[in-house]
Amino acid sequence: MADDPQSRFEIVAREDFSDATYLLEVRHPLMARAARPGQFVIVMSHEHGERIPLTIADYDREEGTITLVIQAVGKSTREMQQTCTVGTHLYGMVGPMGMPSPLGKAKKVLCVGGGLGVAPIYPQMKGFKEAGAYVIAVIGFRTKSLVFWQEKFEACCDELILCTDDGSAGVEGRVTTGMELAIAKHPDIDECVAIGPPIMMKGAAEVTRPHGIKTMVSLNPVMIDGTGMCGGCRVKVGDTVKFACVDGPDFDGHKVDFDDLMARLGRFSSQEKAAMKRWSDECRMAKPVSPAGGKE
Ligand SMILES: Cc1cc2nc3c(=O)[nH]c(=O)nc-3n(C[C@H](O)[C@H](O)[C@H](O)COP(=O)(O)OP(=O)(O)OC[C@H]3O[C@@H](n4cnc5c(N)ncnc54)[C@H](O)[C@@H]3O)c2cc1C
Ligand code: FES
Repeated sequence: MADDPQSRFEIVAREDFSDATYLLEVRHPLMARAARPGQFVIVMSHEHGERIPLTIADYDREEGTITLVIQAVGKSTREMQQTCTVGTHLYGMVGPMGMPSPLGKAKKVLCVGGGLGVAPIYPQMKGFKEAGAYVIAVIGFRTKSLVFWQEKFEACCDELILCTDDGSAGVEGRVTTGMELAIAKHPDIDECVAIGPPIMMKGAAEVTRPHGIKTMVSLNPVMIDGTGMCGGCRVKVGDTVKFACVDGPDFDGHKVDFDDLMARLGRFSSQEKAAMKRWSDECRMAKPVSPAGGKE
């Protein structure tokens, strides 16, 4: 089966946005055909690799590719940053997983992406646009050098507000500042989608709450099997407990218990640090020794 294109996960393009953020385009025609906005895949980069969930940031049905945008934060994502080059293959990729985003019938939509959340908000924005909505996008980064996909957003949405924390590009401030500007100009926004770090999504939900704007967020709890069996990804939404991998990952931002989500995300930090240290030590050991006796 090794030569069957449906069973291989060839990396056909790669782009590095910064020291930590990189894009991979993976060829898999069936997955590209099936993907819907809001869905994700679970990837193993090699036989002994960890299974990591990644949002489908874009898909091209004609080319048969899906796009992943990844931030190197720990052992697996750093390892992929080193090894996933054009022409190599992922060992495994399962998906598309999760419920597609409920794009609804909104007429005017605010799409908000913070940092890496800019990538997963893109397919949702495209989906709303294709459904005929007027789309205002707010994207936020720490600083100008981290900005990516500005042109891609400009080409797709009706209005774009770029924010940077330090004011080096666009409006100075966080995405919540951009959201307030958008809501002041468009009091008739009927839906908002916000994706980014939990603290950002919590802030975004608080901006829209007093205006009564329906707000969906995409949650990123620790996932293991991705099938609703292990319970690892449970999140509290209103009075109910949901499994983000099968019930989500999109939920009503006004009902999500973000404090519980953030506490759960930090539960394995000592194991994650240990895995990172083990891997860094192995990388150092594997480096060839120079003739002078030092490491190259
Ligand atoms: C539905 C979903 C979509 C995601 N989409 C993206 C994406 O498009 N791009 C991206 O860069 N990241 C995405 N993530 C987060 C990504 O899965 C983690 O950054 C990655 O698993 C970290 O692995 P690591 O070994 O590099 O880091 P580690 O050091 O193991 O972990 C760093 C942090 O990542 C989180 N994390 C660790 N393991 C998991 C796991 N199995 N599942 C979820 N979170 C974990 C924890 O908060 C942890 O503190 C998504 C997560 C979910 C649940
Ligand atoms: S990842 Fe196991 S139940 Fe969702």
